[in-house]
Amino acid sequence: MSKFHILDIIEKKRDKKTLSKEEIDYVITNYTNNNIPDYQMSALLMAIYLNGMDKEETTNMTLAMANSGEVLDLSKLNKIFVDKHSTGGVGDKVSLILLPLVASLGVPVAKMSGRGLGFTGGTVDKLQSIPGYNTELSKEEFINNVEKIGISMISQSMNLAPADKKIYALRDSISCVESIPLIASSIMSKKIASGAQKIVLDVTVGDGAFMKDIVQAEKLAKTMIDIGTLANRETVCILTNMDEPLGFSIGNNLEVKEAVNFLKGNMPQDLKEVVFSLGAYMLKLSGLGDNIEQNKKKLEQNILNGKGYEKFVQLVQNQNGDITYLEDLNKFPKAKYIENVYAGKKGYISKLPAKSIGKIACYLGAGREKKEDIIDNTVGIVLKKKVGDFVEKNEIVAQIFANDMDKMNEAIENMNKIIEISENQTKIDTILKIIYG
Ligand code: URA
Repeated sequence: MSKFHILDIIEKKRDKKTLSKEEIDYVITNYTNNNIPDYQMSALLMAIYLNGMDKEETTNMTLAMANSGEVLDLSKLNKIFVDKHSTGGVGDKVSLILLPLVASLGVPVAKMSGRGLGFTGGTVDKLQSIPGYNTELSKEEFINNVEKIGISMISQSMNLAPADKKIYALRDSISCVESIPLIASSIMSKKIASGAQKIVLDVTVGDGAFMKDIVQAEKLAKTMIDIGTLANRETVCILTNMDEPLGFSIGNNLEVKEAVNFLKGNMPQDLKEVVFSLGAYMLKLSGLGDNIEQNKKKLEQNILNGKGYEKFVQLVQNQNGDITYLEDLNKFPKAKYIENVYAGKKGYISKLPAKSIGKIACYLGAGREKKEDIIDNTVGIVLKKKVGDFVEKNEIVAQIFANDMDKMNEAIENMNKIIEISENQTKIDTILKIIYG
């Protein structure tokens, strides 16, 4: 019989005490093995959410989660593996663009991505909107793909960090997402389990991010860097703005189309800054160039010469996706109804609040309200203007893609309520800060 009891552990955290490594190991092992039920784990997660965890507890939680399943050993490939992860956002299609792009420059990519969480989208859902694309590969297939074409992007399908998979879904269903120790342990456990030697993190900040201000985002970044240092994984965090959605499209196949257009040279400014900044650091950590500005140029060159796009096509083809959809984006199924949202007055767009827009996209069917909800790949929002742009009264600010007229009407009404237009021009900085290990 174990010397630990889950009720004592919940009580300890509820009363703001520190959990020992053994207690954390006990919880993670037994929750992963289904010996601790969801309702008790929920109580513990809420206690962690409310009372926090110190540095040692967060590191112990991360390592317990990383070791809850298999830890990938990529050393036989004899390459430096630099992984990338985002703390989540709205319209965030960065992985779809960035990873094939860096792979086209020789950075090997073995990426395990997540599904949408809360009001934020997930790379796996976006990839699955490409007909045929298989996100569930065996370990051997995954490693073979990386060896063969230099890139594979999958879901958390192998037995890697299974504790995170369960905890992530549970947190989403009990409003326990926006917590520094829980986000840090979730992300870093996945990165460690998937064999990353070095890590570049996009820490989003603002309305549509889990961290609402730069102070909290810096705290999260430093927590993840500390875990990286203790686990011998060099980690760089790039703090990026998420007050408005990234790029123009929100919704699964709408974002895939925007990603393909980006790879073909049509690059929205904010998305370009995020992709090139993260990419430049991925190249640096891979040992492919120390000069960040030169690295950005290399990335841009592989957009202009089509090599980034070619690598994306190769990735999709290699995972059974139908590449004719990439060649002709009009082949993607479209929502039944497409309606415009018009500017109520003349002026500068001053707010396109990302969280509310993410929630509207979820309500249309682009995300899940419950774990078992099925995603509608065709619905979402395409912005026609960004913060700082000038609009005339009645000019189109956004388009809504819906398959249900009642939802469409509600989405238009809500968009009209949340879009703000003012006489003065607002400017949003995209890259806010870079923090090294
Ligand atoms: N991304 C993750 O992988 N985990 C979180 O908790 C939040 C964002």
